[in-house]
Amino acid sequence: MKKLMMASAAALVLGVSVASADDLYKPCAACHGPDGKMKAMNVAPPLAGQSKEDIAKKLKGYKDGSYGGAMKAVMAPQVANLSDADIEKLAEQISKF
Ligand code: HEC
Repeated sequence: MKKLMMASAAALVLGVSVASADDLYKPCAACHGPDGKMKAMNVAPPLAGQSKEDIAKKLKGYKDGSYGGAMKAVMAPQVANLSDADIEKLAEQISKF
């Protein structure tokens, strides 16, 4: 019984700390569309069709301020709390759109 409780507590912790790529992309869909085909706020190039490498580079660039156009201030807070692992997962997901 005690073992079972420990296992479910561990699962709970994992569930909170490891977000799936779908969960990570959810807040992005509002602007970029559920499949990345929208021009976010009428300015961003569609994400669909871009390679995983390009997406990851751009997301890291928004995070450290080295990439972006006139509206980069919109993207900076979107990526501020993403880890490198999160960015890799997101880039992988987006490259499949
Ligand atoms: C509030 C609307 C909004 C949300 C939410 C949002 N974005 Fe953006 N995104 C934009 C805008 C606007 C730009 C263009 C910014 C600029 O001028 O560089 C952009 C640009 C991008 C680009 C660069 C596209 C290119 O080729 O230059 C990527 C990649 C991107 N967003 C991914 C994401 C991801 C991943 C998320 C979720 C974590 C997200 N965005 C959430 C509005 C949004």
